[in-house]
Amino acid sequence: MKAIVYDRYGPPEVLRLEEVELPGAGPGEVRVRVRAASVTTADWRLRASAFPGVLWLPGRLMTGLFRPKNRVLGLDFAGEVDAVGDGVSRFATGDRVFGFAGKGAHAEYLVMPEAGAIAATPEDLSDPEAAALPFGALSALVFLRDYAGLLPGQSVAVVGASGGVGAYAVQVARALGARVTGIASAGSRGFVLGLGAERFVDYGVEDFTFGAERYDLVLDTVGATDFSRARRVLAPSGLFLPLNFGLREIVQSLRTRLRSGPRVTIGVSGDTAADLEALKTMIADGQLRPVIDSIYPLGRIAEAHAHVETRHRRGAVVISPV
Ligand SMILES: NC(=O)c1ccc[n+]([C@@H]2O[C@H](COP(=O)([O-])OP(=O)(O)OC[C@H]3O[C@@H](n4cnc5c(N)ncnc54)[C@H](OP(=O)(O)O)[C@@H]3O)[C@@H](O)[C@H]2O)c1
Repeated sequence: MKAIVYDRYGPPEVLRLEEVELPGAGPGEVRVRVRAASVTTADWRLRASAFPGVLWLPGRLMTGLFRPKNRVLGLDFAGEVDAVGDGVSRFATGDRVFGFAGKGAHAEYLVMPEAGAIAATPEDLSDPEAAALPFGALSALVFLRDYAGLLPGQSVAVVGASGGVGAYAVQVARALGARVTGIASAGSRGFVLGLGAERFVDYGVEDFTFGAERYDLVLDTVGATDFSRARRVLAPSGLFLPLNFGLREIVQSLRTRLRSGPRVTIGVSGDTAADLEALKTMIADGQLRPVIDSIYPLGRIAEAHAHVETRHRRGAVVISPV
């Protein structure tokens, strides 16, 4: 089968299309014929070994100290089940599925456990639309619902509201009943308001941390602010939740837990089939829709990576057909 592989960390040009062995589905596993996959921030960080701050060494130890252990990137996918291993009961050959494999989706086929983050694709979604969801929407769901415990009526500022996670964070926060202020550049105003934000702040002309609005939650998806600035606009029991964190945020999260006032929480996203089902319910209820920035053919994977690395996009960057 064809796959995009890389054997050293570096710029998008380290990626190349290669013929590799077709994997088989072992016991409890499904093999998926991938029809679309997204290129996420995690893909470029893994490819470039660009882990923020103190996470560089642990990241490098996990992914391969001298060269990448896993040669095929690609976290999210959509396609159809092509083979099932012994004991598989949730899926059958021909089922349309989407999910979060964590690796290997930038290839014609991938294998993953049926107990993993994989679910039936909603009938009314195309494969590129389904592949645009898992990374951004699962991150948004886990951070807003689980880490922040966002409640109806609360006020949230989403920094990077048009990006890979941000475009879903605006929608999920609204679905949880919150009032959303989206922060991005001027060109994204209509897009972010269209996702359901009540207010929009153009970071090019205004620093929202000097605004009059008070927030129960500041979700920073970009690393554009920090706790010392966010706390100016946080309610007394408000929370600063950065998706990118370093030693400073780790210490702040421990310190702020011990005293009253605004807190910092850090965490990593989760990926479960149950949460994919929760996203499907939001889609069926009209609260969530896939957001696609652009679609690239597999042969232009380096361009797709370079685009994601700019940190200026609206929703997901998808490769299709794979
Ligand atoms: N901890 C975890 O488990 C976890 C999970 C998922 C993601 N992450 C991390 O979270 C980050 C977010 O990923 P992503 O895919 O959403 O990133 P992204 O798509 O690159 O974010 C782009 C967004 O950031 C905005 N932006 C750029 N510069 C800005 C600035 N100075 N101020 C405010 N907004 C700015 C862009 O708006 P304009 O285009 O309008 O400028 C756009 O809305 C990544 O670093 C990723 O590694 C962590």
